[in-house]
Amino acid sequence: MKPVRKAVFPVAGMGTRFLPATKAVPKEMLPVVDKPLIQYAVDEARAAGIEQMIFVTGRGKNAIEDYFDIPYELCATLKEKNKHDILELLEDSRLAPGNAAFVRQQEPLGLGHAVWCARDLIGDEPFAVLLPDELLWNPASPCLAQMARTYEAKGGNVIAVLEVPEAHTSRFGIVDPGAVDGPVTEVRGLVEKPKANPPSRLAAVGRYILQPEVFELLGKGERGAGNEIQLTDAMAKLIGQQPFHAQTFDGMRHDCGDKAGFIQANIALSLERADIADEVRAFIAGL
Ligand code: UTP
Repeated sequence: MKPVRKAVFPVAGMGTRFLPATKAVPKEMLPVVDKPLIQYAVDEARAAGIEQMIFVTGRGKNAIEDYFDIPYELCATLKEKNKHDILELLEDSRLAPGNAAFVRQQEPLGLGHAVWCARDLIGDEPFAVLLPDELLWNPASPCLAQMARTYEAKGGNVIAVLEVPEAHTSRFGIVDPGAVDGPVTEVRGLVEKPKANPPSRLAAVGRYILQPEVFELLGKGERGAGNEIQLTDAMAKLIGQQPFHAQTFDGMRHDCGDKAGFIQANIALSLERADIADEVRAFIAGL
């Protein structure tokens, strides 16, 4: 079984739910406490042993490329002022030379199309996909690492899921479940944003380990829900041909593509930070 060495970060979406902020700042650069969303996703990929980070960007997303550069002037000034603790913080936002690649999605034709744009950089090997606006939080056991363990045991394709209220199933890709083994559920089918009769309440939450055969299916350019090229529809066609499992994520999900979810993420993560937790807690209590 080939190891998963590469991850795709689709960051070419328009982020309309965060306008006007996203007129000038990519959604993935919005900070939760003091780190942009993209950094959380990259950290999660690194914790799962991913070496090559592939960002699918688009118009107005240059800040993401700049973020992974070395800020020479800033580093020199900090060194001069002996601010070594801050310099160390910056180290985390650096990727090893050659380990970040950027490819453009020229039109936002959907998540499936964004992933397909990375096909030549992935080649013929399994890969991960992480949607940075889904902040899946478990620092002790990050989501992609949980999935990687299942991949090592089962092979094929693994997607992260969470149980959502029935009323919310129309917002997600939903799993048609087979045999259940603890947190791992066999996937018999996938339906993108079902309008009625969802096959379960297990919703895909933005983390995938996929086999390269998905590119051939995505390449057909078939439109699905919302007239977009959907990753879910291509994945659904792999079921039955390759092992396909859903990993129920053990941790906290914050939908940072949504305003309330983004605010909740900031509150939840700030309450875990020794330097600011007391101040934030006191402020909330006083509201
Ligand atoms: P969303 O559905 O959250 O869309 O995309 P969006 O454009 O980012 O945000 P809204 O809904 O307009 O506010 C889910 C993920 O897929 C990426 C997005 O960047 C996000 O990470 N995506 C989506 C693309 O890269 N390209 C697309 O064509 C669509």
